[in-house]
Amino acid sequence: MRIIVVDNYEEMSKRAALMITSQVTLKPDSVLGLATGDTPLGMYEELVKLYNKKEVDFKEVRTFNLDEYYGLDPENPQSYYSFMNKNLFDKVDISKNNINMPDGMVKDVNDFCLLYENKIKTLGGIDMQVLGIGGNGHIGFNEPNVNFEAQTHLVNLNEQTIEANSRFFKSIEDVPVKAISMGIKTIMNSKKIILLANGLNKAEAIAKAVNGKINPSIPASILQLHNDVTIIIDKEAASLL
Ligand code: F6R
Repeated sequence: MRIIVVDNYEEMSKRAALMITSQVTLKPDSVLGLATGDTPLGMYEELVKLYNKKEVDFKEVRTFNLDEYYGLDPENPQSYYSFMNKNLFDKVDISKNNINMPDGMVKDVNDFCLLYENKIKTLGGIDMQVLGIGGNGHIGFNEPNVNFEAQTHLVNLNEQTIEANSRFFKSIEDVPVKAISMGIKTIMNSKKIILLANGLNKAEAIAKAVNGKINPSIPASILQLHNDVTIIIDKEAASLL
């Protein structure tokens, strides 16, 4: 694991955007794995800036998102589909046909998950996967006591995650309790991984993921076994390392 500690959120976002830009410059049809949430927002802003300065383009890029709430219509403003459109896809030249997101309204979930996995494989696998981390150590929506062998599947969100994500909804009752998420195996099959974290509320999860025992109770700890992980964190998230 390479660990890059930067001064603040802005630095973290810039570093991550530069890594993605380099990846896409070297391989214009890169397959990117993308995350939602507060952590990568600044990175998407930087990517849009770089795109506007013509330093990167997304014409041939293919993307797969990590996760989506189950039962939420893609048009719902809280869906991760809406998040991605608003913060990246609508602002760059990516082709809509090259965007892949778990479908939160799908009837046959198992079938959909298999198709998602197969599509990732058919396109040659994920070249660079961006991850955030939950305060409980989750990556994607792979909650503590995870099965390290799981691929894309339907997950139950745990209480801590529902509470953390309730900030985006009118009330906690509105937060979906299930999601479709890439599994740990899907994530571990990515060729390169960048994990971003900022703020004191991520410090414990980062310390356990980086220095703790590899353990299903801290899903991110499995990343210790991946051979190309870059962790970009601000000083606060690094404070327990
Ligand atoms: C989002 C995702 C989650 C988040 C994590 C951190 O697609 O997969 O694992 O990365 O919950 O969320 P934020 O960045 O909002 O703190």
